[in-house]
Amino acid sequence: MAAMDVYEAIKKRRDVRSWFSSRQIENNVLSRILDAGNRAPSVGLSQPWNFIIIRNIEIRKKIKNIVETKRVEFYESLPEERKDKFNGIKIEGIMESDLNICVTCDNTRKGPNILGTATIPETSEYSVVLSIENMWLAARAEGIGMGWISFFDPDNIKPLLGIPENIKIIAYLAVGYLREDHDIPELEEKGWESRIGLSNLVYENTWGTPPEDDMEKALQNYRIQ
Ligand SMILES: Cc1cc2nc3c(=O)[nH]c(=O)nc-3n(C[C@H](O)[C@H](O)[C@H](O)COP(=O)(O)O)c2cc1C
Repeated sequence: MAAMDVYEAIKKRRDVRSWFSSRQIENNVLSRILDAGNRAPSVGLSQPWNFIIIRNIEIRKKIKNIVETKRVEFYESLPEERKDKFNGIKIEGIMESDLNICVTCDNTRKGPNILGTATIPETSEYSVVLSIENMWLAARAEGIGMGWISFFDPDNIKPLLGIPENIKIIAYLAVGYLREDHDIPELEEKGWESRIGLSNLVYENTWGTPPEDDMEKALQNYRIQ
């Protein structure tokens, strides 16, 4: 099968919690996806990322328990009318996916004189996020889904994965082959949230000023269906 082109992969990429198949990811395919991550732009070419592949079921069960506690906390914080809807939404596929990947940031990598971090220290973390998006798209092109899980306190996860204190967790990802394709986000399918159309988000020259007529019209072609 020919790989998807980049726009198709962007459109078809989803955050995946419920749609994993049991097929194992081949090591060469996983390596290709990680290589896409390692080719991301990074501030001062610092490559501040590491990728911890987690196949161990016992570790994953422990992480799932931590996530479940936070899920319940969030549920309890919701107004009554949102609670039922939230309960119908799966927020992680830690055990259902083939493997998990924890992506971290080391903002000391390549020494103290990184070109760019002196002015905006967060650029190390931005770089790691770009690496994750590269992997997300590469995975989708391979027929593999990824789900980003953020219901946890990183201090609880770090000891389970032996992550040193100075290293920051940026993402915990569930990764596995897809058994189904979805054109819209699960949160939209379930009526939790909807997407904003592009033309509402683009300004020209100054904040709040819509683009000129022609550009406005061109943007209308990219309405969210
Ligand atoms: C930084 C980040 C953290 C996220 N954390 C979670 C999460 O903990 N649980 C979850 O179900 N989805 C999580 N998501 C997925 C979003 O809900 C999802 O991207 C959004 O609904 C749009 O859907 P799509 O990715 O399928 O287009 C996260 C996404 C991002 C970018």
